[in-house]
Amino acid sequence: MAITLDSHYANGFVREHELAALQPQITTAHEMLHQGTGLGNDFLGWLTLPTDYDKEEFARIKAAAARIKDDTDVFIVIGIGGSYLGARAAIEFLKSPLYNNKKKDTPDIYFAGNSISSTALAELLELCEGRRVSVNVISKSGTTTEPAIAFRVFRDYLEKTVGAEEAKRRIYVTTDKARGALKGLADEKGYETFVVPDDVGGRFSVLTAVGLLPIAVAGCDLDALMNGAAAAQRELCDPNLENNDCYRYAALRNLLLRKGRAVELMVSYEPCYALMAEWWKQLYGESEGKDGKGLFPASVIFSTDLHSLGQFVQDGSNILFETVVMIDKAQREMVIEHDPANVDGLNFLAGKTMADINHSAFEGTILAHTDGQTPNLVLHVPSACEEELGYLIYFFEKACAISGYLLGVNPFDQPGVEAYKKNMFALLGKPGYEAEKARLEQRLGR
Ligand code: PA5
Repeated sequence: MAITLDSHYANGFVREHELAALQPQITTAHEMLHQGTGLGNDFLGWLTLPTDYDKEEFARIKAAAARIKDDTDVFIVIGIGGSYLGARAAIEFLKSPLYNNKKKDTPDIYFAGNSISSTALAELLELCEGRRVSVNVISKSGTTTEPAIAFRVFRDYLEKTVGAEEAKRRIYVTTDKARGALKGLADEKGYETFVVPDDVGGRFSVLTAVGLLPIAVAGCDLDALMNGAAAAQRELCDPNLENNDCYRYAALRNLLLRKGRAVELMVSYEPCYALMAEWWKQLYGESEGKDGKGLFPASVIFSTDLHSLGQFVQDGSNILFETVVMIDKAQREMVIEHDPANVDGLNFLAGKTMADINHSAFEGTILAHTDGQTPNLVLHVPSACEEELGYLIYFFEKACAISGYLLGVNPFDQPGVEAYKKNMFALLGKPGYEAEKARLEQRLGR
């Protein structure tokens, strides 16, 4: 078990001596992180989380998941940003993007409160009709508008359909241990609660109750997930770039940025990775995009998007590099059969597995894109199982922290997220925002 980085397709774009020149900065970033002396050092709980987590709560998460599997047809997970992406990504990666459509002995899982779309919410409510519903509302701050609206709607739905007492049993709250409106509500109503630790920020929280309860409800093995993350915690702490692919990845993406590659395009050849890329985009976008700095994280699934964005990557302006996450072993295998008629001319593929063909697509694409002046990094993930996922999550979190320190930003805050909220509250007439409302309305020409 281990994620390995193959950087040789980037050799024409960054040289080994340039990487070596970054070693002192990497060593400094490593020390800042491990000694807790860097920016945002009150949010470093994720660094030791795989080994240092609340075992009593971990057992309670498993017990709640077993109960939910038993008494629930539809499990609604309410949250936004770091309070939903990790759980959804893990479930799609480990189970399938088609999880809800599969035959299974676990509940369907839907995600709500990650937009303000009444259409999306109304559709979800319709899906719940006549089925046994449980809800997990997740918000570290306990005050985020999108999940708060969805929770108000689902709480009301449950209380009306099964009564207040049964609704209380079917609502699980994941939030701060003491602060926030959600915590107040949970205490008042007597909901079972799980804690987002103070020192773990939203986008670093997938290995807390935030991610673990929904992931367990989907039938995934939490012990294996944590074991994988613990292996990464153990193995990825050598500051020497030659021995640490996690730090090497952080260094290479910074070098490429310094050479004008401001967009990092994450590529996978497996559709089950699409939501993992969304999780990664939030992790890197929110951690690094500040103070006028940062790489813009984008993602594609190949070969699907070779038929849409492939042209740009091959031949368009040289603003990006690719990071391919290659899952080396397919979860399911199919062989192309020989067809005596061969009308489609595909017999040259007969006897090959689709994984072989997918791999040739990867090799052909990486050579073509490198010829087209797009540097490529390749991260090899042995398979899509819990251990590897735990390892991968920790790998990306740690690389993100090191990369953020290399950039000279605080990777653990998100001041920019407040701007739209302030405007939205003012425009909606939230008490306390009166002066701002007048100013904004004038700008909107009202
Ligand atoms: O990473 C973060 O901190 C954010 O993306 C949050 O997860 C997101 O804004 C949701 O916040 P909360 O969990 O407080 O509702």
